[in-house]
Order: sequence, then structure tokens, then C-alpha cells
Amino acid sequence: MFDLTPKDLKGRILGVGDGPASFNAELSAKGGQVVSIDPIYKFSGKEIARRIDEITPVMRAELNKHVDNYLWNDFSDVGALVTCRTSSMSIFLEDYENGIREGRYLEGALPRLPDSGFYDLALCSHLLFLYEENLNFEFHISSLLDMCRVSDEARVYPLVNQAGRPSRFLNPSLRRLYEAGYQCDIVQVGYCFQRGANEMLVVRRT
Ligand SMILES: C[S@@+](CC[C@H](N)C(=O)[O-])C[C@H]1O[C@@H](n2cnc3c(N)ncnc32)[C@H](O)[C@@H]1O
Repeated sequence: MFDLTPKDLKGRILGVGDGPASFNAELSAKGGQVVSIDPIYKFSGKEIARRIDEITPVMRAELNKHVDNYLWNDFSDVGALVTCRTSSMSIFLEDYENGIREGRYLEGALPRLPDSGFYDLALCSHLLFLYEENLNFEFHISSLLDMCRVSDEARVYPLVNQAGRPSRFLNPSLRRLYEAGYQCDIVQVGYCFQRGANEMLVVRRT
């Protein structure tokens, strides 16, 4: 999603809206420095596990309903995808209590991130732009600026909405970020599961 290089992975990384993903657990186990911020981290591991059990059948049904919205290259079918996601969430859950103690999972939310230091890279996947029907433009621009406040570089993926169309907030966000003195690049990435979701936004200080 973010075309992360070995050099990127050596830096201090902030994952915004990481939820029950395994990135933090897996990179931390390899000696990387990652902090994840998400509102769900106010819940215990047991509560998150219960919620995962509730939503897994819903996720499976939704994917089956909209199977043509996705490209089945990385995953052969819905079953393979659900197995992969379930395995990622298990890795997260195994790491969660330890990660909380180590300060790697912090409760917090955009548009104002809690102060937890400064990062080389702030990443946000499957939240901004994708859920443009639920999150308004002011939320988007405040969130992007806040990710830039706490990092040298922010990357956001994908740039399409849930219908797979380019988000209507992308161009206005680019304008506001340029005006605020940031350089923005839209970069093609190697990962594409949702149709049309093959680009990330990269924002850097100029
Ligand atoms: C669709 S999930 C994406 C999880 C992960 N980033 C991924 O790509 O698999 C969206 C995540 O955003 C989190 N979220 C919702 N509102 C948020 C906010 N205002 N600030 C930060 N995260 C938020 C949710 O709790 C959830 O974990």
C-alpha cells in the first residue's frame, strides 16, 4: 500500500487508524519502531477480539456481495482473503497487551492526534478518502495537516472512495496542502485489491 523501502522501515513510523492490523506487531518483532494510534485501543484485547468475531461474517458477506469491486490477484477468493485478515488480526491480538505496555498502541483519533513524539513517516490506510461519505472535507484537511505536524512525511492510501472512484476531497486537499507549504505527490503503488486503489498520496514539507 505504501511501497515501504528497507530505509523507510528503519525510521520511526506512526500508523494512524491501524485498528487490528498486524503491521505494528510484525515490524516491532523485527526491531522496527512503530506507534499505532486508533480510537479502538481504548478497548481491551478481549473486547476487540469479541468485536472481530462479530464482524468477520459481516465482512465475508459484504465481500461476496461486491466481489467484482476487487481484483483477485493477491487473494484467490473471499475465503483466502478472510483467512489472511483473520491471521493478521490474531497476530495483532497476541501482541496487543504487550504493545500497550510498551506504548506502541495509543488510543487517539484524527483530526487531532495525541502528542507522542515526532516521526519520520506517518501512514494512514483505508480511512481518509475511502470514507468520504462519513468524514467531511474539514475532517480530511485537518487530519492531513495533523499527520504532517507530527512527521516529516505523511502517506495516505487509497485515494478512492468506497465506490472505487477518485475521492472528491483529493484535489481540494492538494490545494490546501500546497497553500500550507507542503509538497504533494500522487504515487502509484504495487498493491491493488479494491479496483482503482493503486495510488497513495505522499505529503512532505518543502
Ligand atoms: C477500515 S479500518 C483500516 C485499518 C487499517 N488501517 C487497514 O488498512 O487495514 C479503519 C480504522 O480507522 C479507525 N478510525 C476510525 N475513526 C478514526 C479517527 N477519527 N482517527 C483515527 N482512526 C480512526 C477505525 O477504528 C479502524 O481501525
